[in-house]
Amino acid sequence: MYNWRIKSVHNVLEKKGKAAGPLSIEDLIGLGHLDQYHYLGTQACDEVAEILGLAPGSKLLDVGSGIGGPARYLAATTGCNVVGVELQADLCEAAADLTSRVHDLSKRVQFIQGNGADLRSMRMPAPYEPFGENFDHFVSLLVNLHVPNRPALLEGLFARLKTDGTFVIEDFAALRPPTAAEAATLVDLVKAPSVTSLATYLDELKQVGFVDMEAKDMTPLWADWTAARSREYVATEAEAVALHGRSTFESRAHFYAAIAELFAGGRVGGVRITGRKPGRREAHLHAARAKLAKRPLGAPAAVRILENGAQFAQAPRAASERSQGEASEPPLAAAAALGCAAHGVTATQASAAQILHGASAAQPPLPWLAEPRPGLHDSLQYHFFLGPLFVALRVFHTNSLQSTTAWAYDFTEPGSGPLELVNTYVPHYSPAGRGAAAALRLENGEVAIADSGADGVVITLRPSSKAAAALLARAGVPAGASGAPELVIEAAQGHVYGWMPAGFESDADRPVVHRPQMTARVARWRGAPLQGYGYSKRYHGIYPRHNSWRFIHGIASANGGVSPLAPSPPHILWTADATFGDDKYNYFKLLPAEAHVSGALRESACEDTYQQQDVAFGVLGGERAEARIREIARWHTILGGRGDGSMEMKMENRLCELSLQVGEGEAPVTGYAYNERCFGTLW
Ligand SMILES: C[S@@+](CC[C@H](N)C(=O)[O-])C[C@H]1O[C@@H](n2cnc3c(N)ncnc32)[C@H](O)[C@@H]1O
Repeated sequence: MYNWRIKSVHNVLEKKGKAAGPLSIEDLIGLGHLDQYHYLGTQACDEVAEILGLAPGSKLLDVGSGIGGPARYLAATTGCNVVGVELQADLCEAAADLTSRVHDLSKRVQFIQGNGADLRSMRMPAPYEPFGENFDHFVSLLVNLHVPNRPALLEGLFARLKTDGTFVIEDFAALRPPTAAEAATLVDLVKAPSVTSLATYLDELKQVGFVDMEAKDMTPLWADWTAARSREYVATEAEAVALHGRSTFESRAHFYAAIAELFAGGRVGGVRITGRKPGRREAHLHAARAKLAKRPLGAPAAVRILENGAQFAQAPRAASERSQGEASEPPLAAAAALGCAAHGVTATQASAAQILHGASAAQPPLPWLAEPRPGLHDSLQYHFFLGPLFVALRVFHTNSLQSTTAWAYDFTEPGSGPLELVNTYVPHYSPAGRGAAAALRLENGEVAIADSGADGVVITLRPSSKAAAALLARAGVPAGASGAPELVIEAAQGHVYGWMPAGFESDADRPVVHRPQMTARVARWRGAPLQGYGYSKRYHGIYPRHNSWRFIHGIASANGGVSPLAPSPPHILWTADATFGDDKYNYFKLLPAEAHVSGALRESACEDTYQQQDVAFGVLGGERAEARIREIARWHTILGGRGDGSMEMKMENRLCELSLQVGEGEAPVTGYAYNERCFGTLW
């Protein structure tokens, strides 16, 4: 991709009569974008020098150093020492060759050919060995987008950086999910498989250990700069063709136009991230905080004031004892057994949702997998937004249909599209899943669900489809006992809400159980752990034969950051416009960011709630609320029961961008949504 650059540099130098012999740094700076392969040329380098405080003697690692322009410029202007690591051997050689022609510069600027993702094992020049904290700073200018295993690159950079060392990264970031055409341009033309949201990027840096990070949005500046570059390059056509030939001109013009178009589209942006490796004491503090944050906060241990020399006799009780003896509300399992009146869930859909039992609820011991009979539904769904990965899972258990489906979308590999992981009609429930156990256990060859409510949910997907197994293998998902990759999602259930669906009035009916605030993790995906938010619903009862529903669940925040690692939690919305038989069933629920601890919802009355094609409407406290979705990926299937025509249901699932606005004139918050649209007979 870059070889034309070496040739072009030689063409220009030759024209200047400098094909061989000494060069000044000014000669090289004069090569412009042929020397500096990032945006804003040496102006950006000056800012890098200022941010890092480069000075004589500083040791700088320049990862993805290209033809060496930034390394030479920074060394020449600040007196620092630089090691450039460059993947492409010919560029690396050209960088060393050009540098050797500038008086005295080779002593301070060296280049190594290698993959930035292998920094740990890479042999460095003597002053930077043995392996350890060898550099005061690193810089990475428009490189990381090209590195498929970005977490490995970041991990190596962290390891090679000194305690308190600082860095500057300039890179692409997805402001919103790119369109399919943009995704193709990124992958095929720009060779950039690692363009993610800023939130994911910062999460990865944080996971590796970096602190003190600040991200500056470069998009407007880069959009203008790349548009001007594209225009000006075309304006020099005659000169460029004469110097470098028509084919180089055409391909550069095409590339520059494509980049300008990407930034103009508003979905692909640019970011400058600066940050630091923590000092030793600070590193300890961060590690300890993170460790303690993972421990559940139990009820406080027994307290006695030890004044007057009294002996402390009362030992704190075990957490398990406390939760049984002191719970102010019965565990959900027990309450559900009492019927919904016992926990205040009123009998109609018009009523407000009840928090069933906060985050400590257990999954209800509904008569899961009672023998199928006409009308019986005992169905379950989960979906998770896990940064670069989205996963949806659906279990239907009715008289005519027992099926399990799951699909995924990998934002880092948009070319793979929405990928079916599982689509099986094979009854797969283990005998252990039957009966009234508090925990739900389902298992077959492809899916295992262990849902223990407050004790957590573990979903294991072992797709038998070759394409799905290949995706998991590409993402580095470890193999399980079967030898095939097993994607394991672990989740905490968060708040649990329930209310009766339309047309259900009997005490024998059960509330639908909604868990919209699940926090989930996958231990490893493309070399890094993933974290995210999810939703689960379970409903059981005798339902009519003809049904239709449109359902949206989404998470959104002011800056689009929707990771559990973001400084504040997202707003969580879920809403349906549904018909069961003759009964209409609409709801619109919002768990605002500031109510994640209390669990208090904002709810729209059913008569104010409806959906149109890609918008859900509600009224929250007198304010109009609109949730607008835009499709990123779609997966659909026809559920066909036993194949004897006894039922047919069109089920469409979509992963979408979400824009949520509450109150006219208020700025919308943005994020992602899952949209389910089902129509047909199902009973
Ligand atoms: C857009 S250029 C930027 C070069 C340089 N930073 C500059 O600003 O002039 C991206 C460079 O990253 C290099 N690169 C891509 N993947 C790499 C990797 N895994 N390790 C090291 N270099 C890599 C490419 O070969 C290319 O030279």
